[in-house]
Amino acid sequence: MSVIDKLHVRNGVASDLEQISELCKSIWNGRDFLPTVWNNWISNEIGSFIVVESENQILGVYHHYLLDSDSWLETLRVHEQYRRQGIAQFMIKDYLERSKKLNAVNSRLVTSIKNTASRNLFEKHGFSEVLRSQYYSIELDTISTNSLQEEFSIIKDSKQIYSLLKKSPMDNRLIPLWWRWWQQSPAALSELSHNSFLIIPKSYSSFILVQPSKHYGYGNDFQMLFSDISEDVLKECLSFIKNNISSDANKKIFSIPETDSNQAKILDNIGFNKSTNLVILEQRINSI
Ligand SMILES: CC(C)(COP(=O)(O)OP(=O)(O)OC[C@H]1O[C@@H](n2cnc3c(N)ncnc32)[C@H](O)[C@@H]1OP(=O)(O)O)[C@@H](O)C(=O)NCCC(=O)NCCS
Repeated sequence: MSVIDKLHVRNGVASDLEQISELCKSIWNGRDFLPTVWNNWISNEIGSFIVVESENQILGVYHHYLLDSDSWLETLRVHEQYRRQGIAQFMIKDYLERSKKLNAVNSRLVTSIKNTASRNLFEKHGFSEVLRSQYYSIELDTISTNSLQEEFSIIKDSKQIYSLLKKSPMDNRLIPLWWRWWQQSPAALSELSHNSFLIIPKSYSSFILVQPSKHYGYGNDFQMLFSDISEDVLKECLSFIKNNISSDANKKIFSIPETDSNQAKILDNIGFNKSTNLVILEQRINSI
């Protein structure tokens, strides 16, 4: 009997945390974020964790999240001692079946370009590349706080943010809400407007959208989305965030623009550090 025949599938629960921490201890050199979000995502009903186990030992886990007709897959992990036996393939099939039942049209995920295991696995299951993005970040400590030429105002009201986002949609087909890329559907814009605030430069018709990552249950950073903003104004906006919004708890500002985009060039030029190259994979699973 193969390990696959013995697998039992169920929803993850808070008391699984110890086993999940054990399973993740060798992932990303012991810095896997999954144990940190486990209880928060479960208690706040942010999507669902699915675990697969055999004889009460958890051998694999993943998380899925549905927004309108888009389904997102993340934190797929297999216990190190049980890899290359088809457990990840088993979980992907389970995930795709669940997503179809929930009437999702597209299924999507992000992985590092360098993660050959993950890319092979998903490409084998019908996912293909739709976007490349790059992670950029800057430590708040390193931002200078010179006096500002530009005046900024802040909008925190979610209804106002939603109507501004509707009026001037961002250029990209997919936008990252924290680390999940969604189409700009009313559901995604609503979620975004409830979890962000806008910084408006007085001399511009455009805005900088800031998502505090704690709204997504992880960390204390600020994530920026922007388009049509000059380098100088964006640089001043960083000082504005540091002077007027951040506290000692906030450590950095990050952004995940499309690779080689205008936004990426601006972040390069104003001193953001560039790290992981990412690829967003997608599969159409139901027709509309
Ligand atoms: C990626 C991961 C989930 C794969 O789990 P797994 O149960 O070993 O995968 P499977 O046995 O189902 O493999 C299915 C296919 O994926 C590909 N694959 C899996 N591991 C691979 C590796 N180390 N190198 C290259 N391809 C690999 C292969 O195409 C494989 O098919 P094959 O065995 O017939 O060649 C596992 O290695 C893992 O937990 N890694 C750490 C976390 C991670 O990177 N998660 C994915 C991104 S969120």
